[in-house]
Amino acid sequence: MKDQLEALRLEIERDVKAAGTLESLDEIETKYLGRKGDLTNLLKGLANVKAEERPLFGQMANQVKEFGLDLIAARREELNREKASKIAETERVDVTEPGIRPPEGHLHLMTQTIREITSIFEKIGFYRPRYPEIDWDYYAFESLNMPGDHPARDDWETFFMDAPVGTGKKQGKMVMTPHTSNAQAHELERHEFPVRMLSIGKCYRRQSDATHAPMFHQFEGLLVDKGVNLTHLRGILDYFAREFFGPGRVSRIRPHHFRFTEPSFEVDFSCGVCNATGMVNGQKCKLCKRGWLELGGAGMVHPNVLKASGVDPNKYSGFAFGWGIERLAMMKEGTRLDDIRILYQNDVRFLKQF
Ligand code: DAH
Repeated sequence: MKDQLEALRLEIERDVKAAGTLESLDEIETKYLGRKGDLTNLLKGLANVKAEERPLFGQMANQVKEFGLDLIAARREELNREKASKIAETERVDVTEPGIRPPEGHLHLMTQTIREITSIFEKIGFYRPRYPEIDWDYYAFESLNMPGDHPARDDWETFFMDAPVGTGKKQGKMVMTPHTSNAQAHELERHEFPVRMLSIGKCYRRQSDATHAPMFHQFEGLLVDKGVNLTHLRGILDYFAREFFGPGRVSRIRPHHFRFTEPSFEVDFSCGVCNATGMVNGQKCKLCKRGWLELGGAGMVHPNVLKASGVDPNKYSGFAFGWGIERLAMMKEGTRLDDIRILYQNDVRFLKQF
């Protein structure tokens, strides 16, 4: 029995030294020292040993067990330490390494342009109220000096809503606003002066070609106060030309007709490519052809428009302008857009460029 115990001790020692993983250590422990392990089996033989020798073998068996447990514990600690230092090596994080940027989008060209326009006008005291994009006929047309049967309404090719017709004095059919001019009466009805409104919104018309989309954006400027005249409008147009297009750029106005302004104008800005000459190196300017880029309408607010909102035209006067935002973005030299509809096709290859 003594020899068997000694042999077991040596086996344990050999196996523990050779064990390379924590799992194999567990197995060794079970195999030799577990409840059904080799040592237990060996001790079953005690029954055949002389009674007086039993305590001695019992003691020896205990020593083997303790020896084994100590050895296993020591090896376990060693393996644990090795494992930890390996992790420290393989999973080291270099905190000074530059991070990986997640793919990031950016604002749509239209949003960028809207923000730019807003900040240009905010600098000179304009504020930006919000008015409905689905509105009553009254605000879209009637209040703007365009009575129901007026042919000028055809120009707007309006989408009418399939909704009950409002019977109120300031209602009528519901329309998807064909222009942002509907904001004028809403704002004037507040009777708070000076009015320095910049209303930006979506507009809807039955149209679709290279320069027209059925949904587009406009911004409507309205300045009404005592003593406002045409020179103020001219000043603002030139201010906008410089701020939006760059130094040296100017505006001009040409006579036109709108129902809600008198006098009315079309507004052009000098072309930045040919410097308002219409010629580049002896050839017609490709961007503007005539030296000027046409933007949209403007004029002095018609007295009837003021009256419709209960504002006395003998006391107050003002000017208004309404321009397309897509058009404005297309007029910037760098954009080179030849079809307005591409703005809304959600093609990332296009959108990424701005
Ligand atoms: N509402 C006009 C349109 O959509 C543009 C316009 C012209 C607005 C003259 C104005 C203005 O405020 O004074 O074509």
